[in-house]
Order: sequence, then C-alpha cells, then structure tokens
Amino acid sequence: MISIKSKREIEVMTESCQLAAKTLNFIAQKLEIGMTTEDVNQLCHDFITSHGAYPSPLNYHGFPKSVCTSLNEVICHGIPSRKDKLKNGDILNIDVTTHYKNFHGDTNRTFFIGEVDPKIQDLVKVTYECMMAGINVCKPGAHIGDIGAVIEEMANDHGYSVVHEYCGHGIGREFHEDPQILHYGKRGTGVQMKPGMTFTVEPMINLGKRHCKLLKDNWTVVTKDKKPSAQFEHTIVITEDGHRILTLDPDNPYDPKF
Ligand code: MF3
Ligand code: CO
Ligand code: CO
Repeated sequence: MISIKSKREIEVMTESCQLAAKTLNFIAQKLEIGMTTEDVNQLCHDFITSHGAYPSPLNYHGFPKSVCTSLNEVICHGIPSRKDKLKNGDILNIDVTTHYKNFHGDTNRTFFIGEVDPKIQDLVKVTYECMMAGINVCKPGAHIGDIGAVIEEMANDHGYSVVHEYCGHGIGREFHEDPQILHYGKRGTGVQMKPGMTFTVEPMINLGKRHCKLLKDNWTVVTKDKKPSAQFEHTIVITEDGHRILTLDPDNPYDPKF
C-alpha cells in the first residue's frame, strides 16, 4: 500500500528530512584521514540525538549502529567499526536516517577522503548525476519505472553498472514503505506517481560489474569484483507540478557542481 501524505504531514516530515541533511553537512566538515568509521558513527549519533531525534538504523532489524558507513568496495549497509580507519584515496558513503516527530528522513552522500584517483572521482560524480537524473523525471503521472530507466542509461553510457539487489523505497511513518524504487528498468512501467507520495532515490553504481556479495556479518554488502561502488540518496515528495527534494537544506544546499 502506497501512503499519500497530507500537506501537514509533509511539513512535519520535511523537518526530519532537514535534520538528516544537516547531519551530513555536519559530518562532512569533520571527516579527516585517520579517524575511524566508529568516530563517524558517534559524531552523527550525538548530533541526531542532541536535536531530539532518533537514528533510525540503530536496532533496525538488529543493525548495531546509528548510521551506515560504506567504504570503497562496500556497496551499502557497512557497519561502523573502530577497525576501519579512513585513509588517503578512500571514498566513504555515510547514510543517515532520522526519526523525528514520527517521520523518517533518509539521505546519503559519498565523500572523498584526501586525494582520490580521478577514475574513482568520476564514478562518484556520475553516481550523483544518476540520482539527480532519476529525481528529475519525477512528477504526477510519471511511472516509477522511468526513474530506473534514466539511471541505468546514464550509468551504462559511462561503462558503469547498476546494483539490482537493493533499491529506493517509500518512506514516511515507516522507514521502508511501498513502493520499491528500482534503479534500472523500463520507461512506462510500474505505478504512476501522485502528489503526496514520498520516496527515496538512491542508486548504487559500480565501477566494475554489478554483482554483489553479503559478508558474514549479514549486513555489509560488497562488490563481487572488489572494485569501488558509490551511492547518493535523497528523500523526495511528489507535488502538484513536479517534485521537491526534502533532504536539501535550504541554508546549506548540497550541490557539488562536480
Ligand atoms: N538507510 C538505508 C536505506 O537507504 C537503510 C539502512 S538499513 C540499516 O534504505 F539497517 F542498515 F540501517
Ligand atoms: Co533509503
Ligand atoms: Co539511506
């Protein structure tokens, strides 16, 4: 069942989404070589809770930490650890989800640590552009499949591949709601978008092949070929005349202009 949010619900949900965006703005300024992904977790946890919110991943289906930290060949759901130190040339995705005033806000970005190989920088840049291209087709009457179609086309044009096993999702009072937002597929397929629908667009794009592997911790998803993977995520709402990105902070909008 796809829930349609009222104007009032969107206002409240926007507050949660804005806090998630602000958490990423905050952690972006703290990242440095030598810190651990557990340090990232603790800083984000404290930021979120000090604003009166709860970090949605914590204890979600048993997830042990407050954010996901996915380094290099980790596609998604990386578990913060004191053993993982950031080093020059890494790419690190930080996925923040906040639960505030009964609504979830979900957003992630991939950050550069020090000097990153230009080929990997290009992967990150194209992944951001894939997310934005997917978001930009969203409006009443468009089909959910249109999102995946443009993302897959753009990724493949650059010789990259799209992860199939994990997808975007409806979001609101629940962390993961209907519908699933695949990042590949065919135009004109799937349900049509309607004003008040809220969902994420969060493509995971691989430098090599699309295939993935789940590690023994039952959370960490890595590329089978061990090549890097990047991801960006926004939560959006369908409006009467298009869409609005709820996880963009108007005071400090994230726009990398690669
Ligand atoms: N934030 C992730 C998403 O975009 C989900 C993380 S689930 C967790 O859907 F349990 F790993 F935290
Ligand atoms: Co999500
Ligand atoms: Co997320």
